[in-house]
Amino acid sequence: MRAGETENDGRVALIQSDIWIGFPRAERVLDRLQSLIDAPRQTRMPGLLVHGASGIGKTMIARNLSRRYAPEYDPVAGITRTPLLLLQAPPAPDERRFYLHILAAVGAPSSTLSLRAQSVASLEVRVVGLLRDLGLRMIMIDEVHNLLAGTHREQRRFLNVLRYLSNELEASLVCFGVSEAVDAIRGDVQLARRLDEHHLANWRDDAEFSDMIQTLIAAMPLAKKSNLQVKSLRQILALTGGVTSRIFALVKDLAIDAILSGEERITDEAVANWTPLWSRHAPSQRRLEKSGA
Ligand SMILES: Nc1ncnc2c1ncn2[C@@H]1O[C@H](COP(=O)(O)OP(=O)(O)O)[C@@H](O)[C@H]1O
Ligand SMILES: [Mg+2]
Repeated sequence: MRAGETENDGRVALIQSDIWIGFPRAERVLDRLQSLIDAPRQTRMPGLLVHGASGIGKTMIARNLSRRYAPEYDPVAGITRTPLLLLQAPPAPDERRFYLHILAAVGAPSSTLSLRAQSVASLEVRVVGLLRDLGLRMIMIDEVHNLLAGTHREQRRFLNVLRYLSNELEASLVCFGVSEAVDAIRGDVQLARRLDEHHLANWRDDAEFSDMIQTLIAAMPLAKKSNLQVKSLRQILALTGGVTSRIFALVKDLAIDAILSGEERITDEAVANWTPLWSRHAPSQRRLEKSGA
């Protein structure tokens, strides 16, 4: 093994991991969520509907916030407090599945889970009872667009459950989903009134985008500084459609190339020669050459 190879492997592994990279647009959502958590309790807690294209970074934001609020054991009260619960909406709006999922998520004893035959109503009582003990301040539902897989009536029933839980627990409700689901979520008028909207648009050619790219490149463990021209930034937008996941994949791919080639920085030429992973059917010539094949 050549010297530096393990060091390179370590850097490549770091790039490939999904570690959080903070940029103002994501931090703004986190700030909004944080102020909802800190807001005084009331019966009709305001909430937020965060929507945007698939891959725009919604789940990363939800996970980032939920990491800040790991369950904590309170030795005085003798209970575990979980201020924030992050749940995935079931693949279709099915109350029973959702309640069972919540019970599993909060680690309810399996004796409870084996009571699958219980009516939806008694599951509901059980869920509310358990969640009340957690001292919840916020319930985050990711993939809320799964709602669309149900009939209109099922959608309404499911939204009703969300509203009910939020009211009963005096917890803020935060939903994450693709923008196509916004109308469906607005289907419950009372819920809609309480959910503010936060739209995460695809990236455009503006200062916010170039700042984000710079933050992203600076987070790559490269020895040299990359100074991309505006032309390259536009090219990155065109290649990725302004979707965060694709932008990150592109920059990470180029960073790995820069490590393997010894270039140690991302160049305008590398951006110009980059072919999207999502349209790469066979290993490109570029890669074969690089690997010495
Ligand atoms: N703040 C971030 N830090 C690091 N990577 C991010 C961030 N936001 C988005 N990504 C990248 O984009 C991908 C898609 O993000 P994700 O949150 O799953 O999108 P969505 O839930 O909107 O479909 C992630 O797997 C990650 O690679
Ligand atoms: Mg997601």
